[in-house]
Amino acid sequence: MLWIDLKNPCLNGEPKQYEPVIWELSNIEVLPPPVVSTEQSIESIINSRRSRRDFGLLTREQLSTILWLSCRTIEKKISDIGIPIERRPVASSGAIHPIHVLIGKADSPWFRYNTDNHTIEELCGSMVPSTNLFTEVTQVLPPGDASILLFVAEPEKVFAKYDNANSLIWRDAGVLLGHLAIVAESLKLNFCPLGITGEPWVSNLDKQNRLFGVGVALIGAR
Ligand SMILES: Cc1cc2nc3c(=O)[nH]c(=O)nc-3n(C[C@H](O)[C@H](O)[C@H](O)COP(=O)(O)O)c2cc1C
Repeated sequence: MLWIDLKNPCLNGEPKQYEPVIWELSNIEVLPPPVVSTEQSIESIINSRRSRRDFGLLTREQLSTILWLSCRTIEKKISDIGIPIERRPVASSGAIHPIHVLIGKADSPWFRYNTDNHTIEELCGSMVPSTNLFTEVTQVLPPGDASILLFVAEPEKVFAKYDNANSLIWRDAGVLLGHLAIVAESLKLNFCPLGITGEPWVSNLDKQNRLFGVGVALIGAR
C-alpha cells in the first residue's frame, strides 16, 4: 500500500492575494424559500441516518432547503488573502470554504450553488462537466431519479494562506459530506456518498487547472 503523507498544513509566511475562478453562466435561477420542520430530535435524526440508494425526484424546495441548511453564506469578513472569509452552516479550515457544490442530473443542465444569494447558476461552455461523469456514476451506483452533487475544490484559495493545504481541502470535503448526510436525513431525503472524486472530469472544467473533484454524492426524494 502507498500512503501519501499530505504533510501538516501551516500558515505560509506571506498570504497571497487570490483571484477566484470566474464561472461561465447562461442562466440564474432563484431557489424557492427553504422549508424547515423542527419536529424531530437531533437524536432521532442521527439514529435513523443511513445511506439510501433509491431516489425519487428532488423538488426545487427540497434542493433549496438542503443547500440553505448546509452551504449558504451566513456572514463574510474581509481577509488578507484577497477573498472574504465566511461563516456557513459547515465548518471549513480558515473559514475559506474552497469547495463549490455543483448539481447535475442526466439530460438536464448543470448548476453551481451560489452561496451568497441562494441561487443556482446554470453552467455553460467548457464549465459543463462531461457526460462521462454520468457514466462513471452509473457504474458505481445507478442514480435513477437522483441529483448528483459534485464537490469541486478550488485549492488555491486555501494555498493562499496555508502551505501543505491538501489535507485541509480533503477534510473540508468530508465535513461537507457528513453534514449533508445528516441534513438529508432530517429532511427525509435519500442520500448516498460515492467513492469517486469527480476526476478527471472536474479538472477539465478550467483551462488554468484551478478546479479539482473532491467528491460525489447522490440525493433524491424518499
Ligand atoms: C467517503 C464515502 C464513500 C462512499 N462510497 C460509496 C459508494 O461508492 N457506493 C455506495 O453505494 N456507498 C458508498 N458509501 C456509503 C457507505 O457504503 C456507507 O456509509 C456504509 O455502508 C455504512 O452505511 P450507512 O451510511 O447506512 O451507515 C460511501 C461512504 C463514504 C463516507
